Amino acid sequence: MTVTALPISPHPAVDGGLRLEVTNVKPQTDSIVSITLTDPSGKNLPSYVPGSHLVVQYGEEGVNAYSLTGSGNAPSEYTISVLRVEEGTGGSMAMHRLMVGDRVFVSRPRSAFAPASTATHHLLVAAGIGITPILSHARAAADRGTTSSLIYVYRPGAGAHVEEARQLLGPALTECRNRETFQQVLNEQLTTQGVGTHLYVCGPIAFMDSVLDLARDLGWGSARLHSEAFGAAELDDGEPFMVNLVRSGLRLEVPAGTSLLDTLEKAGKSIPNMCRKGICGECILPVLKGTPQHRDLYLTDQEKAENTTMMCCVSRSEDPELELDL
Ligand code: FES
Repeated sequence: MTVTALPISPHPAVDGGLRLEVTNVKPQTDSIVSITLTDPSGKNLPSYVPGSHLVVQYGEEGVNAYSLTGSGNAPSEYTISVLRVEEGTGGSMAMHRLMVGDRVFVSRPRSAFAPASTATHHLLVAAGIGITPILSHARAAADRGTTSSLIYVYRPGAGAHVEEARQLLGPALTECRNRETFQQVLNEQLTTQGVGTHLYVCGPIAFMDSVLDLARDLGWGSARLHSEAFGAAELDDGEPFMVNLVRSGLRLEVPAGTSLLDTLEKAGKSIPNMCRKGICGECILPVLKGTPQHRDLYLTDQEKAENTTMMCCVSRSEDPELELDL
């Protein structure tokens, strides 16, 4: 068995985390592989909140976040599934090269897409690789005796974890392979749920926006809506907004397609940063006024709801203007 040369020291984004061994590599589709990681000493791994992700280091410099697919309850192993993105930053390609016996540095699991403890039913909606955190929610709901149903959209031949979803959910799983069927099923399910049902959606940004917009149009309150983006690679350009730096007395425009971090750096501000993907937490900034559009995987749901901090490498503004303590 060949053990690939891997980083010998942890990236700061995974410092204080774990060093785990690859114990299984399983192709799910032509472009998605599942990777199972365990503690080399055989110890159980830290439990996690359903919908959590791991930050995994690749090379000396790179880190990426991947959703865990298990329920999170006393896990003996962590499993992530990785979509190969040829034109990405190289993280997914490096993950696809991992082999059994390799050791990787990972963070402790982080939660940014937690289930609502008060939900009486979980309506889960996944597109493509978005199935990974959704599967975690479905497993956790089954463990806890809460009901869940899943609408899973995938292209023919490109569905990961389909068999597991079928076994787990039985008739509560609806598989959709085209937009028309999906819209029909989604409409029907969104209009027939009780008030205790919470909606969770993961997939491409445009897909999530369309699901959440329809739910809002049909009267779902924001407290019942939960979503998770894949990470910075999937983020769209966003809308332009203005930012006021209160201590510096500067007012800057953040154009669409340019990050707040880039804008601040161009204006001569030195902002600590490492990953520039919303993962490591280095570029956190205090917000004084306005509502950030949180697009990171670092802040918890609670911290995002407080709107007093934001990660300026990926997050933008819901309002035309933001005021920062800078
Ligand atoms: S630089 Fe890592 S979260 Fe912004």
